[in-house]
Formats: sequence, C-alpha cells, structure tokens
Amino acid sequence: MKKRINKMDEKVGKVLISKEQIEKRIKELAKQISQDYEGKDLICVIILRGAFMFVTDLAKEISIPAKFDFMATSSYGDSTKSSGVVRIYKDLDMNIEGKDVLIIEDIVDTGRTINYLVKNLKTRNPKSLEVCTLLNKPANRVVNVKIKYVGFVIPPEFVIGYGLDFAEDYRHITEVRVFKED
Ligand code: PRP
Repeated sequence: MKKRINKMDEKVGKVLISKEQIEKRIKELAKQISQDYEGKDLICVIILRGAFMFVTDLAKEISIPAKFDFMATSSYGDSTKSSGVVRIYKDLDMNIEGKDVLIIEDIVDTGRTINYLVKNLKTRNPKSLEVCTLLNKPANRVVNVKIKYVGFVIPPEFVIGYGLDFAEDYRHITEVRVFKED
C-alpha cells in the first residue's frame, strides 16, 4: 500500500537523499564512530525531535559500548526560518562529567542550535565533546561550528523527512525531500 503522507502532499518536493543512500552512509558513520570511540566512555546526546529517526538507525550499527540520552531544543517553531533563539525544553538526565560526549543532530543549518549546545554542554566538563549530524547545510551558516561527523552536505533548501519536519508534519517520510514553500 502506498504511504499516505497527508493532505499537503503537493508541498512535498523531490527526493534529495534516498533511503538507500541514508542506509549506506549511516553504516559508514557508525563504523567510523565505533573505531574512534573504542575503549572510551561514549555518551551519545540526541537532540530531539529531529534526530530521532537518524539515531534509531545509527545506534543499531554502533558496535561498541555506548549510552544514549536526550535533549530537546527548538529554534524553528512552525516556520521554515530559524528564530535565532534556542530554547531547551528537555535537559539531559545523565551526568556527562568526564565522559566522551557525541552530540547527534539531524541537521546543522544556521549553526545556532549546535553552537548553543556545545557551549552549554562544555560547562558540564565532559572529557571530550564532538558533533555528528546527518545533514550539513553550510550555505546558511551564521555561526562557525566544528562538526566531526557529517552524513551529507546539502544545498540551502528547506528539507523534510527522515525526522525533519515542517510545523511538525512530514517527519515520518523515509527519505530526505525538498519542501516547496508557498
Ligand atoms: C532543527 C534541527 C536542529 C536545528 C538546526 O531543530 O533539528 O536542532 O533546527 O538549525 P540551526 O542550525 O539553524 O540552529 P528544530 O528547532 O526545528 O526542532 P526539532 O528538532 O524539534 O524539529
């Protein structure tokens, strides 16, 4: 049965990254992460909500001991433009002091969210702190950020699917697609 996306289907544009491309790249990223963190005290900090689908697939491919905790932030609201104000509405439960922390994001766009999170988490004295993002959109950057693991570099288009939303819709689409604004 063909998946019904919703009544706004005409706004769902072309596939930018297919399911198969995502699967292949995630295996590569997980292999690299497993090698780099072998013997370390890895805590993956997942940034909700967008990263939920990425981490579900990534976690299954990580072959070393790892812990997972979650933070929720918001900067977009119901818009396709970043508000510029990052809000934490769920904090970590785990203590990350002395741990090797890897932030898992779905997308780095303006860089404001990750910049804010890196500064915030550094104050908790982790042993190391790095960033892994499925998508990187460097053309929109307003803050310079260091990202160790990148799945795909994408052009400056608003994208949805594979966890990414527009006004909370479209997160369950299985590939990354362009969103056609009005
Ligand atoms: C998205 C995404 C990143 C952030 C990236 O989250 O998940 O956290 O925006 O954008 P930036 O680099 O311009 O800061 P959003 O605030 O939309 O919340 P969501 O994950 O719940 O969709």
